[in-house]
Amino acid sequence: MFGYRVAEFGDVDVMRWVELPDPVPGAGELLVRVHASGINFAETRMRAGTYSGQPLPFVMGMESAGVVEAVGPGVTEYKVGDRVFGRARGSHATHVLFEVLHTLPLPDSMDFVAGAAIPVGWLTAWHAVMTVARARPGERVLIEAIASSVGSAALQIAKWQNCWVAGTASRDDKCARALAAGADAAYNYKTDDLPTRVMADTGGHGIDVGLMTIGEETARALFDSMAYEGRIAMYGSTGGRQVCFSLNIGIRNLQLLAMSISSSARFVPESMPSFRKVALPLFASGRFKAVVDTVLPMSELNRAHAMVDSRTHFGKIVLVND
Ligand SMILES: NC(=O)c1ccc[n+]([C@@H]2O[C@H](COP(=O)([O-])OP(=O)(O)OC[C@H]3O[C@@H](n4cnc5c(N)ncnc54)[C@H](OP(=O)(O)O)[C@@H]3O)[C@@H](O)[C@H]2O)c1
Repeated sequence: MFGYRVAEFGDVDVMRWVELPDPVPGAGELLVRVHASGINFAETRMRAGTYSGQPLPFVMGMESAGVVEAVGPGVTEYKVGDRVFGRARGSHATHVLFEVLHTLPLPDSMDFVAGAAIPVGWLTAWHAVMTVARARPGERVLIEAIASSVGSAALQIAKWQNCWVAGTASRDDKCARALAAGADAAYNYKTDDLPTRVMADTGGHGIDVGLMTIGEETARALFDSMAYEGRIAMYGSTGGRQVCFSLNIGIRNLQLLAMSISSSARFVPESMPSFRKVALPLFASGRFKAVVDTVLPMSELNRAHAMVDSRTHFGKIVLVND
C-alpha cells in the first residue's frame, strides 16, 4: 500500500507519499481500500507538530470511505465488498484499517465523496449538539466557525432539531453562504459586535447553546451572548487555547462543557449508536446532506492543507484516489 507518511513535523513538504507495509486487520478491524478521504483542521496541526500527543512517524488522514477488502478475526458485522465510511487514522492512503466500533455502512444513495465528508465533522457536531449540549426544539443555537466542516454539519443538525440557529465566520461571503444554507442569522466576528447583534436578534434572550471552536479570540463575545442556563460545548481552539472568563457567569448559570470525541467515554456508547440509528437514515433519505466544498485528487494533499490555512472553504475538502 501507499500513503502520506510524516517522519518529522513541519510544512506541507514533510508529507511524503511512500510505500508502506500492507496492513493486516486484527480482531475487531477491517482492511478498507480508500476511495475518498476528508480533510480536517486538526491534520494541519498534526503535520506542524502543534497537536497535543501526536507521535512520529504517522500516516496522515483521520477519516475515509471505501470498500472492505478483508476482515479481522471475529468480525461479523461487515464482509468483503461492503461499502463503509468512518473515522480511521492513516486514511490519506490507498488502504487503512477501520475499527468496527467506528465504522458505518455507506447508504446506497451516497457516493464515497459524501461518505468521506461526514465522519469527523458530523460525528463531532452530533456529539456536541445532541449528546453534550442536548439542544432542544425552540432553543437558540450559536455555531462558531459555521463554515467549518463541524460547523456546517451542526447547522443542519440544529435546524433538524427545530432550533433557531445562528453562526459566525470571519468573512461576509461565508456568512452569506450560511444564510443560504438555512441559518437564521450569521455574524462576521471580525467586524460585528456579537453580543449586541445576538441580543437584538433574540429579543434580549441570548443563546441557549453555544458551540465554541475558536476559543481565546472570541470567547468573551460568546460568553456575553449567552442566555441564562445556557450551555457551551467547547471543542476547538483555532483562535488560541487560553480562555479567560469572569466567574460572574455563575449569575447566569452558564454550563461550560468541554469535549473531545476521541476521549469521551460517552461517544462510542451514546453518540455512535444514536448517529447510526437516527442520522444515517436522514442521510439516506436526503434530509441531511454532506457539505462538500472541493474534491481534489489524493496527490494534491498539499493544496488541501493550503486551502485549510486560507480559511475560504465552506464544508469539507475531500481527496479521492484514482
Ligand atoms: N473536540 C473534538 O472532538 C473535535 C473533533 C473535530 C474537530 N474539532 C475542532 O473543530 C474545529 C473545526 O474543525 P474542522 O475540521 O471542521 O475545521 P475546518 O473545516 O478546517 O474549518 C476551520 C475554521 O476555523 C476557523 N478559524 C478560526 N481561527 C482560525 C485560525 N487561526 N486558523 C484557521 N482557522 C481558523 C476558520 O473559519 P473562519 O475563518 O470563518 O473563522 C476555519 O475555516 C477545529 O477547532 C477542530 O480542532 C474538535
